[in-house]
Amino acid sequence: MSTGKKTLVGQIDPTVLAYTAGEDVLLDRVLVEVDCIGTAAHVTMLSEMPLAHPLFTVAEKDQVVAALIGVIRDHRKEAFRISASDQDVHLAVERALTAKLGDLGKRVHTGRSRNDQVAVDLRLFAKEQLFHISRETAGLAKVLLAFAEKHREVPMAGRTHLQPAMPSSLGLWASAHAESLLDDLELIRGAYRQNDRSPLGSAAGYGVPLPIDRARTSELLGFSRPIHNVLYASMARGRCEHVILMALSQVMLSVSRLAEDMILYLMPEFGYFSLPPAYCTGSSIMPQKQNPDVFELARARSADVLSCAMRVASILKGLPGGYQRDLQETKAPFMEALRLTHETVTVLQPLMQSLQVHEDSLRAGCIPGVFATDRALELVADGVPFRDAYDRVKSEPDALEGRDPLVAALQKKHEGAPGGLHISGLAKRATDTIDFVNREQKCYNNKVSALLGIEYPSL
Ligand code: ARG
Repeated sequence: MSTGKKTLVGQIDPTVLAYTAGEDVLLDRVLVEVDCIGTAAHVTMLSEMPLAHPLFTVAEKDQVVAALIGVIRDHRKEAFRISASDQDVHLAVERALTAKLGDLGKRVHTGRSRNDQVAVDLRLFAKEQLFHISRETAGLAKVLLAFAEKHREVPMAGRTHLQPAMPSSLGLWASAHAESLLDDLELIRGAYRQNDRSPLGSAAGYGVPLPIDRARTSELLGFSRPIHNVLYASMARGRCEHVILMALSQVMLSVSRLAEDMILYLMPEFGYFSLPPAYCTGSSIMPQKQNPDVFELARARSADVLSCAMRVASILKGLPGGYQRDLQETKAPFMEALRLTHETVTVLQPLMQSLQVHEDSLRAGCIPGVFATDRALELVADGVPFRDAYDRVKSEPDALEGRDPLVAALQKKHEGAPGGLHISGLAKRATDTIDFVNREQKCYNNKVSALLGIEYPSL
């Protein structure tokens, strides 16, 4: 029987310790700052608690906050370590505070649990990540919309079953992908709103016999409000992550469909577009190759994000109420999906911005057949019943020669058709998202600055 390794929470067998800490020792590195911010809010609230013997005087609270700022600075200099015996960021920060402040450090955990902490940390972390992802997704939508505006009058064959179908425009194609991302951004906004609630004060999920003020910690951290029920606050771990991952999955689904179109249209057989060589990769054996690897990886990584959402959902399904250690395993797929989505919507922007358009090939793709439906509708305008017009057009394929695809595309002027695109209306939705994110981020930074008594995030 192993005597075990000394930790803040008892002697634990080293193999068990390594197995149970799992990836936390590494993953939690991105949570150091938010863990310190959460602790600053908790200790500030404790210092305001009406007790005969205050847990922290104002001066002591200030000492703790100063030490927390020290931990953040050490972390930024890569001088803060989470060791195996810490198990996670929460105990690592408590150890550092106790080393520096003695008894004061030992008091910071009063009235809260690590479940409380990890839930707050992940929500603050996600908030920040959603700012970046929303901004970059809106940025990609804007790039596509600028492209659509510029190429409003470039003809393109609209396809169904990948076969040429109707005369269309490059503007319609690009702004379709943009509008998909704009709808995805609404899902992110919904997920952001659910994430923007404070779980702090749930403790082990059942509250504590202390007059803690949950509304106060929520406000100090810039959340919109506390999650009401403390047991639900604990059970919302993983749930909130999954809601976010569902929104990210939609973003990546939109992106993967754009990527697939790009891979096809970059093929020399289509020749619609080409990319600057710096955005392609070559082959080690075939000197001529210019491969669209970024789009292929975006397509594959959308599968990764979908599977991250499924990993989290699979862990949650059937999990009993209250904290279960299983929840720890939702952390890695959550972080991975946030990272992959952010990287993907970011990397695609310069590629789409520098796309070279080959109008001749796009025009050549508009084979005479694409005018068949237009001609049938012309016959309808002359009073021929549609089915008769359809049969006549089918039997006279030569009558479709010599039409201009651009004229045909732009003649569809109703809302949302190639000749009726309201691109500036779509662009406003992207700009509104960016404005919302900037306001929210500023508000969050102001709250943290007030809490720490120093300009955040610059410190
Ligand atoms: N690293 C843990 C997690 O992510 C922190 C919470 C540990 N809580 C516990 N009751 N063992 O879930």
